[in-house]
Amino acid sequence: LADPCLTISKQMEAELVEFRRDLHRHPELSLKESRTAARVMEGLEGLGLNIRRRVGGHGIVAELVGSGPGPVIALRADMDALPIQEDTGLPFASERPGVMHACGHDAHTAILLGAARLLAGMRDRLAGRVRFLFQAAEEINEGAKAMIRDGALEGVSEIYGLHNLPTLAAGKVATCSGAMMGSVARIDIRVVGRGGHGAIPEQGIDPIVAASAIVMGLQTAVSREISPFEPAVVTIGSLHAGEANNVIPHEALLSGTVRTFSAGLHERMPAILDRIVGGIAGAYRCRAELTFTSQTPVLENDEGCNRHIEASVDALLGPGARVPAAPTLAGEDFALYLKEIPGCFFWLGSGPEEGAEKAYGLHHPKYTLNERCLSLGVSILAAAAAGRLSGNGGH
Ligand code: NI
Repeated sequence: LADPCLTISKQMEAELVEFRRDLHRHPELSLKESRTAARVMEGLEGLGLNIRRRVGGHGIVAELVGSGPGPVIALRADMDALPIQEDTGLPFASERPGVMHACGHDAHTAILLGAARLLAGMRDRLAGRVRFLFQAAEEINEGAKAMIRDGALEGVSEIYGLHNLPTLAAGKVATCSGAMMGSVARIDIRVVGRGGHGAIPEQGIDPIVAASAIVMGLQTAVSREISPFEPAVVTIGSLHAGEANNVIPHEALLSGTVRTFSAGLHERMPAILDRIVGGIAGAYRCRAELTFTSQTPVLENDEGCNRHIEASVDALLGPGARVPAAPTLAGEDFALYLKEIPGCFFWLGSGPEEGAEKAYGLHHPKYTLNERCLSLGVSILAAAAAGRLSGNGGH
C-alpha cells in the first residue's frame, strides 16, 4: 500500500498547502479553534465518515468504516496555535495580532485531513475502521484529556500521531521506541512570612529571602538527589513578591515547571520538592505551600507500534530517511493516549533540506515549515493505518 499512498498524497500537495496556509493566516488559541474546526468539517464533507463534533472542546472525531471487519486504528492531529507575535514576513503570515501557528499544528491538521481524504478513497481495501482525532487545546495540555473523557478512544486498538520538527530536514523522519518526550508538571509555591518595615527586618519575616533560597535549593534536587543518568529539570519561571522598595511583603508566589523522563521519577518529584521547599522555608521562619499539578506523563512509544511506523516509513521513503529521535524534555499531551492504548508518536522533518539544524525551532516567532513535509506526513499516517487494516495483520 506504500506506492498508492505516496502517489495520491503527492497529487494532493497543492490543496494541502492551500489548506495549511489558510489555517496559518487564521490561527486560533487553545479552546478557541472554532474556525479551524469549521474548515476541517468542510474538508471532511462528502467523504462518508461518521462524525462527532465538539469532542473535548472544538475537537472532531471522524470515523471511516472500511469494507470488512477489523480493528480500529486512530490517527490524531492537534489544531491550536500559540500566543506569539509572528515575525516571519511570509505572504500568508498570521492576520491575528499576537497569535501564531508557531508549532505547526496548522500543518498537522492539514496532514490528518489529507490522510482522511486519501484513506476514504481506498475504503474498499480496509478491513476495520480508521478514527481521525482532530484535537483541540494541545498547547495547554487540555485537549487529549478531554477527548479521552469524551470517549474518543473507545474501541480503538492503536493510535498514531506525528509532530513536525523544523530542525530535521523535510524528507526525514525521527523515531524511537519507549520514552521519547518528558513528563510535564506545574508547580506553584506560596511562601508566607510577615510583612513589615524594610528598615526593621527583625519585626517581620521576609518571604523574599526565603523564596530566593528556595529557587536556589530546588536546583539541588536535580543535581544532588537524582542520578545524573536520569534526566530532570526544575525551572522556576515566575517569582512575584512585594510592591515597594522599602517594605517587607507578607508573601511571595513562585511558579515553575518540572520535567522528567521516567514515570517513576515523576512520581517521586512531589515528595522531593515538598521536603526541600518546606525545609528551606522553615529555616527562614516562613511557611510554604507547594502545589504539584501533573499535566502530561512521559510519552512512551509501544515497541511494536514503533516498529510498524519504521516499517511504513522504510516502505515509503527508504530506510535512509529515518534517524533515531533524540530525547527531549518538551511535553506533548499525545502521551495521555499512549497511557491508555498502544501507539506511536514520531517526528516528521519540516526543516530546510540543507542546514536544518540551524533553523528556528518550534515556538519561535520566526519559525517556518517546509511544506514538502505535508504530503509525506499524509502518506506515512495513511500507510500506517492501511497497513494495520490490510486484513493480514499488517507488518
Ligand atoms: Ni506542538
